[in-house]
Amino acid sequence: MQTLTITRPDDWHLHLRDGEALTTTVPDAARCFNRGIIMPNLVPPVVKAEQAAEYRERILAQLPAGSEWQPLMVIYLTDNTSADDIADIASSDFIKAVKYYPAGATTNSDSGVTDLAKTYTALEAMEKAGIPLLLHGEVTDADIDIFDREAVFIDRHLVGLRQRFPGLKMVLEHITTRQGAEFVAQGDVNLAATITPQHLLYNRNHMLVGGIRPHYYCLPILKRDVHQQALIRAATSDSGKFFLGTDSAPHTKNNKENACGCAGCYSNHAAIELYAEAFEQAGALDKLEGFASHYGPDFYGLPRNQSTITLARDPWQVADTAPLGNDTLVPLAAGQTLQWKLQS
Ligand code: NCD
Ligand code: ZN
Repeated sequence: MQTLTITRPDDWHLHLRDGEALTTTVPDAARCFNRGIIMPNLVPPVVKAEQAAEYRERILAQLPAGSEWQPLMVIYLTDNTSADDIADIASSDFIKAVKYYPAGATTNSDSGVTDLAKTYTALEAMEKAGIPLLLHGEVTDADIDIFDREAVFIDRHLVGLRQRFPGLKMVLEHITTRQGAEFVAQGDVNLAATITPQHLLYNRNHMLVGGIRPHYYCLPILKRDVHQQALIRAATSDSGKFFLGTDSAPHTKNNKENACGCAGCYSNHAAIELYAEAFEQAGALDKLEGFASHYGPDFYGLPRNQSTITLARDPWQVADTAPLGNDTLVPLAAGQTLQWKLQS
């Protein structure tokens, strides 16, 4: 196969940041996607509908001329999110979800939830209004090993949440484990998951063998090979429960190559090409369209895109660095050769 034409995909989880960074991240997001679910972990976080509306305007100001890409906004769940806040979201045309971060789990999550029980009023209102809950599914307890955080979250919290709020749509974001893939596969129609390109392409050996490679460091952290294989099986299955969410999360080169480097991989410079690489390696290029373009909108109850994109087999080398606003980042797969290229 030399070309591949699929329905234009969407990105159901990404970080655009704010200010100057938007001059890089918005055009990159609009490059192959039609819609993006925009993470709210700014400083301060996007906790109210009004803040989301203002952030959306700043994003749209950077949209390249002629682009139809749309930011779908997300509100950051806190201990104090009220039923009124949820009512404001329900009446918005462009806010599509609420994001749960456990306090302290990852980049800019200090305002996250300290105890899930404190959010039950908000979750009940979301269940009634049909607003999806996006979960950063990790525990942050000091006694839990960082490689076990996702599996323990499922046991300690997700099982109970599903029982308490069976009508609430939930997306277990950026799953990284066999346990995550199996739990979602066995769940009902209100449970789905996103998978990133880095978790399909790499495992922890890529990050740690032969030297510590900070550009592979993201959260949830890359796991061992058996988990990577389980994620590949999930992404290439036709269950409709797994879909594309890059978790593209830019940090400057300096903040990554640091004694205490930030978590996050930047992938929106080549998002669909990276996924194509992973699907081809799995012998499942024919499954890319469902994962990238169909199952996400189906889960969110939004229409599938009408337009298409075409990828061509045309090996190219990813740049070593790229701009991030006025600064510099190191993109995922920097310096590596990818087999597929988006045709403009
Ligand atoms: C994300 C970021 O940098 O905002 N980092 C990451 O490693 N994925 C936050 C997140 O999604 O956990
Ligand atoms: Zn993220």
